[in-house]
Amino acid sequence: MDLSTLETPCLILDKGKLKNNIDRLHKRMAKLGVNLRPHGKSAKNMDVMTMALEVQSGGITVSTLKEAEYYFSHGITDIVYAVGIAPVKMKRIVGLIKKGADITVLLDSIEQVTFVAEAGRKNGVTIPALIELDCDGHRSGVTLEDSLLLDIGRLINNEKGVSLAGVLTHAGESYQCKSTDEIKAMAETERAMAVKCAEILRQDGLPCPIVSVGSTPTANFAEDLTGVTEVRAGVFMFYDLVMAGLGVCDESDIAISVLTSVIGHQKRKGWVITDAGWMALSRDRGTAAQKVDQGYGLVCDADGAPLKDLIVSGTNQEHGIISARQQRELPLESLEIGSMVRILPNHACATGAMYDRYYVTDGSTAIVDVWHRVNGW
Ligand SMILES: Cc1ncc(COP(=O)(O)O)c(C=O)c1O
Repeated sequence: MDLSTLETPCLILDKGKLKNNIDRLHKRMAKLGVNLRPHGKSAKNMDVMTMALEVQSGGITVSTLKEAEYYFSHGITDIVYAVGIAPVKMKRIVGLIKKGADITVLLDSIEQVTFVAEAGRKNGVTIPALIELDCDGHRSGVTLEDSLLLDIGRLINNEKGVSLAGVLTHAGESYQCKSTDEIKAMAETERAMAVKCAEILRQDGLPCPIVSVGSTPTANFAEDLTGVTEVRAGVFMFYDLVMAGLGVCDESDIAISVLTSVIGHQKRKGWVITDAGWMALSRDRGTAAQKVDQGYGLVCDADGAPLKDLIVSGTNQEHGIISARQQRELPLESLEIGSMVRILPNHACATGAMYDRYYVTDGSTAIVDVWHRVNGW
């Protein structure tokens, strides 16, 4: 089967690029002497995660319990569920533990410790918990300034049904960095805060075996990871235009793209219309604040070579509008009605979420495999 036989829009994954991206980060982590705990939220697929795990028995990160259950059903037991825990999810957490999963939850409040411990005690299991740290004001987690870190640590240690696994932080603000020097500094902030919090807990006599940090930008630019036990990263497997804009990868490293058909020309407006709207590309505009705004995605020919300067400048639900970044005539000869083009995504995780499968290529337009994704919660 060839790309040209596929119904559009659909999601294409280049296996060779995927492998190179994975190998590159593994080599970096090995050099820095730290274990990589790949995040399964980007791929939501076991074939990709098998490639991302250096050893089949290695641990992973997940962002949904559906991912946790799916990866566990494929033999992965060591799982960090890296989204703050809610009471309604305890039944599935306990279910996984009873089946043999070594799943760790994430929390940053006394309330969460209380209901996690209660669920553990009620069900005769001990649930490992990581304390989430806020290293950059991005989202959730306890800060160095408040006393919550020790309060939570001590409570976990005193309660039955829950155990203290360590600390975790995610430098999500690295996506907003303006230079690679800024990313390097952010990686050091992420490391230093996690290591400092681990020390505070240990000095209080509390266990802190895991010191977990990570985002794709900081993982790629960290220069020293002393004191860190593992790095989490997800989007590095695929990369995307946001990562290229940050200088984390080249556009040519981006392993996923959306195949779309040209369905119309609006010559007066300088537009080409496709069947990939925001349902196919996502609404992500992560490059809007970067030096080069890529609209809703960068346009490539059907072989994946960028068509200079063409971006998806607008989207409706099922329509994409291609136009030239600089006002100029479109190369309509390579965008005939009925022809296909490929769009590189702004944010691979958001675009991937729109699809239930990857059509896998390996260096040509032949489809060598179809890999399914586990979407939803
Ligand atoms: C808690 C946590 N860890 C790690 C990651 C991985 O980040 P990235 O996709 O930049 O590698 C994410 C991404 O959202 C996250 O939320």
